[in-house]
Amino acid sequence: MSDSAAVTDKQTTEYDNLLEMRDVHKSFGHVNVLQGINFHVGKCEIVALVGDNGAGKSTLIKTITGVHRPNKGEIYFKGKRITIHSVAQSRALGIETVYQERALADQQSMWRNMFAGREITNKLGIINIKKEKLETERLLRDSMGFTSKAITVDSQVMFLSGGEKQGVAIGRALYFDADLIILDEPTMGLSLSETKKVLDFTRSIKDHGKSAIFISHNFYHIYPAADRFVILDRGKIAGDVRKSEITQDDLVQKMENLARTGVFE
Ligand SMILES: Nc1ncnc2c1ncn2[C@@H]1O[C@H](COP(=O)(O)OP(=O)(O)OP(=O)(O)O)[C@@H](O)[C@H]1O
Ligand SMILES: [Mg+2]
Repeated sequence: MSDSAAVTDKQTTEYDNLLEMRDVHKSFGHVNVLQGINFHVGKCEIVALVGDNGAGKSTLIKTITGVHRPNKGEIYFKGKRITIHSVAQSRALGIETVYQERALADQQSMWRNMFAGREITNKLGIINIKKEKLETERLLRDSMGFTSKAITVDSQVMFLSGGEKQGVAIGRALYFDADLIILDEPTMGLSLSETKKVLDFTRSIKDHGKSAIFISHNFYHIYPAADRFVILDRGKIAGDVRKSEITQDDLVQKMENLARTGVFE
C-alpha cells in the first residue's frame, strides 16, 4: 500500500469526531478562499455542506483529501492530527471522494474500475481476476442494488448511466472500508430515477456505519439525506444546524436570507 506511513490504526476508537478541522485557512495568491474553518463530521453522520457558487465548498473538501494543503490550521481524523500530502494518502486513511463522472475510467470494465489501484494480488503480485470479478458481482448485487440485467461485471463503464457510475464509485468506497465518503455534487446532471439511486446509496453509507460529507445545491436532495447542515459563505462558516432543529422550508428561507443580507437567520 502506498503512503503506508499515513495509515492510522483502524482499531482506534477513542475519539469524539471522525473528522475535525480547526481554524483552517486556504488562500490562492491573495484570495482567501477559506478563512478560519471549524468543521466536524461525527461518527455515522451525514453532513451536508451547503453554500453559494464559489463559497469554498470544494476547496474545503480538497484540503481534506490532500489536493490542497491548508496555509494554516489543523485537521484531525479519528482523533489523530493528520497532514495530508496526496489523494492516495487520504484514501489510505479511509477517506474516499465521489465526483460526478470523473472518478471512473470509461474504457475499462466495471470490475477493473472497482479495484483500480488496489488490486487483489497473490504473493507473486499477480492479479486475482476471478476474485475481483466475484467481489464486484457481490457488491453490485448486495451493496449497490443493481438490478439491470444489461449490466455485468464485464460491462464497460462507458455504457453505465450516470447514476450507475456513481453507484460504482460509492460501492468502491464502501468495499475499501472508507470511514468518510465525500460526495461533491454527486447528483449533478442526473435524471430523477438516477438521482434517487444516488440518494439511496448515500443513505446506505450510514447503514454501513460510515460517515459522509454531501455537497449539493439541491435542498430536496440534501434535506432528506443529511443529519446536519453546515453553511459556508464566502470562505466562512455561517451556520451549523441539525435537521431536528430546522424544517426544509426554514432552511431554504434562511439560505435566501443569507444571499440577500449576508446573515444566516
Ligand atoms: N486552484 C485554485 N486557484 C485559484 N483559485 C481557486 C482555485 N480553486 C478554487 N479557487 C477559487 O476559490 C473560490 C471557491 O471555489 P470552490 O470551488 O471551493 O467553490 P464551491 O463552493 O465549490 O463552488 P460551486 O458551488 O460553484 O462548486 C472560487 O472563487 C474559486 O475561483
Ligand atoms: Mg464546488
